[in-house]
Amino acid sequence: MANSSPNNKHTHNVNIDDFRAKILKWYDKNHRILPWRSVGKKKSNPYHVWLSEIMLQQTTVVTVGPYFENFSKRWPTVHKLAAADKEDVMHEWAGLGYYARARNLYKCAQVVSAELNGIFPDTQQELEKLPGIGGYTSAAVRAIAFDKPANVVDGNIERVMARIYAVTEPVPDSKPQLKKLAGGLADGRKDRPGDYAQALMDLGAGICTPKSPKCLLCPVMDICEAKKKGIAETLPVRKAKKPKPQKHGAVYWITNDKNEVCFIRRDETEMLGGMLGLPTSEWMITDTKVKLEKGVKPLGQFITHSFTHFDLKLDIYTKNLKNGTELPQNNPIWLSALELDGLGLPTLFKKVVKFMK
Ligand code: ADE
Repeated sequence: MANSSPNNKHTHNVNIDDFRAKILKWYDKNHRILPWRSVGKKKSNPYHVWLSEIMLQQTTVVTVGPYFENFSKRWPTVHKLAAADKEDVMHEWAGLGYYARARNLYKCAQVVSAELNGIFPDTQQELEKLPGIGGYTSAAVRAIAFDKPANVVDGNIERVMARIYAVTEPVPDSKPQLKKLAGGLADGRKDRPGDYAQALMDLGAGICTPKSPKCLLCPVMDICEAKKKGIAETLPVRKAKKPKPQKHGAVYWITNDKNEVCFIRRDETEMLGGMLGLPTSEWMITDTKVKLEKGVKPLGQFITHSFTHFDLKLDIYTKNLKNGTELPQNNPIWLSALELDGLGLPTLFKKVVKFMK
């Protein structure tokens, strides 16, 4: 496909039939076995495909595996998930991060169950009307669940395209261009669109890896412009990242005279919204002063946690709540030491619990 944007003069031509045939043949022998994946003649389960794709947004295949198994066992259909208690869903999601995904997952299940008779739509337009489904996920569900043509582009596929076409313009600016190049190979193609999308993902995960790509094992080595130019490993070029902001705050380990610990359910609008957590102060950009709860004692210890857009350091404070003392938070949830292990806590608070035990 010729492309002539001003700062990209690559005019590398790819024979689409040849490319797809090689990719699919490679996939038939080398595909990963993944719990949500159906191979060969077996039909995909759209509920499983949707569930896995929501989990795989921003999370690796290895991390997602056990979560997918737990969810699909506990709630085997979209109707079952829709009928679950929201708190159970949040609990089961704990540790996967990006908790808005879980809130939307639950909302989406309710819409599909109540309004669509439990049947996921097969067009991107209809899929994107559902909570939590954007352009990537609608394409992935259409292709993988329904085997219909769609331009599925995740980070793996961007990297494969950057190399096949030797795109040297840095990401993220080059993302639209990489998507267009992927579309040239995918759009309207009816030969196994689901397997093709997953084949590119697997190729990106196992062969066309960010570091030390295994070009000699690649089924499309002879088509790859970056391989020809000897620049595969340098692509895609990434713009230098800005350093992450550092935030800090206080986390409170509040016990009562029964030796129970105070937890709260976090507000939907804040970070880790809807999840169970320990009470904290506001999280501030480092150097602003944290406002502390009354009567707390510094433990002289802290935990750190890295979020996508900032790093957080929380100093641990303790407080023992005697009968009659005013409560520091609304709606405290008091839990005994025995109950602390099986709690569905975000990783940030797991670290504090582990530390305090
Ligand atoms: N990453 C996102 N979706 C995926 C899938 N269906 N298979 C493998 N990796 C993926």
